[in-house]
Amino acid sequence: MEKPFQKIEKAYLVGIDLGDNDCQISMEELKDLVKTAGGEVFDYAIQKRNSIDPKICIGYGKLMEIKQIIEENEIDLVIFDVELTASQTNNISDLLNCPVIDRTILILDIFALRAKSSEGKLQVELAQLKHRYNNLKGLGKSLSRLGGGIGTRGPGETKLETDRRHIRRRMDKLQQDLEEYGKHRTELRKNRSNKNYKTVSLVGYTNAGKSTLLNSLTNSNAYVKDQLFATLDTTSRLLKIDNKEVILTDTVGFIRKLPHFLINAFKSTLEEVVLSDLVLLVIDSSDKDFENHEKITREILDELGYNNKILKVYNKCDLISKEDCSMLDGITISALSEENFFELKKAIYKALFGEKVNLKLKIPYQDAKAISSLRKKGVIVSEKFEDTYEILEIYIDLADSLQYNKYIISEHLFAYKDDN
Ligand code: GTP
Repeated sequence: MEKPFQKIEKAYLVGIDLGDNDCQISMEELKDLVKTAGGEVFDYAIQKRNSIDPKICIGYGKLMEIKQIIEENEIDLVIFDVELTASQTNNISDLLNCPVIDRTILILDIFALRAKSSEGKLQVELAQLKHRYNNLKGLGKSLSRLGGGIGTRGPGETKLETDRRHIRRRMDKLQQDLEEYGKHRTELRKNRSNKNYKTVSLVGYTNAGKSTLLNSLTNSNAYVKDQLFATLDTTSRLLKIDNKEVILTDTVGFIRKLPHFLINAFKSTLEEVVLSDLVLLVIDSSDKDFENHEKITREILDELGYNNKILKVYNKCDLISKEDCSMLDGITISALSEENFFELKKAIYKALFGEKVNLKLKIPYQDAKAISSLRKKGVIVSEKFEDTYEILEIYIDLADSLQYNKYIISEHLFAYKDDN
């Protein structure tokens, strides 16, 4: 496994500006990723280009400038913010005489550090092997293209073939083990749906505050840290709203340039998201790039095939002004101070169960069945017993209330009554 940061290593970062305005922000993220992986950023360079050089990604002159910086400052590692092919990595590394990795390897490395559950670890190992396997393929091609004759091509290719076979076997084994976890997960889901639990997933950009929200909504203590990808494994907790219980699940955070094969690697855990009744799209409202975060998150949700309800939740509103807060087109909360939790719970309730009504009913004792079914479905507010009938005030789902129309004396519509 690639482990870029065994000690605190000094990294030099390289970005490529292809004119899409994304480069600077992406570079800032790369810096955070390096810190999260335990490294130290010395400095960075961005080169404007029309296209990526197929051999060395950037221009030769720029690469030589970087080489000089590396030598003068004892840089341990160079990290490119774009995905490099195996041959690009080798070429650049040879020219710089320094190890070179790309954003994908860095993310994979952080994932490897973060995975806690055995399933999570298997998923990360599989993703790493897939990446290495694909790169070996690339390397094989580049070596054969070199046509290096005796001593280079033959043995090199054979070694690569053996490596590839070895990796393939391990990948198959991991795949099988993960399928077992998948079966177990399906069983769990079946149990939940037998119990009629609705499921809600917390989805969003990394560091948006999803785990904090899970903790404060459910009074639990899932891992929270001000770093990227603090949560890799999914965590589920029971959330009680009014008289209903729902399963709330925290998932891995998303980030721009998340490689396709990585999304695939986490598909089985992300299946929880796809099958949810509701997604809370958590956005860090204090991040200047929050609109893009939402866009990227929605794109990944689309890619996963999620097509159910989405509730937009702007978190960290304690860090922005009231004015900015009022401009946002979603529920604004603070997962830390629990500001606006009542509104949030109300909205979750409404999305999952519809409106609630407060009914006053007059039910003759001879309709005892209606009285007992009402008791099961709603929350009794008051009861008054007369000679031949009962006056019942009850708080119930609008949909459930319709069958009791003939008993209704008065009704009052409201969505959710806070029970805390
Ligand atoms: P990943 O695991 O990377 O996907 O992160 P996450 O979305 O689960 O974020 P997490 O809950 O770990 O929070 C990230 C950081 O934001 C932590 O330092 C939290 O304390 C902080 N944070 C979360 N919610 C709020 C909030 O409402 N206000 C403020 N000020 N900070 C918050």
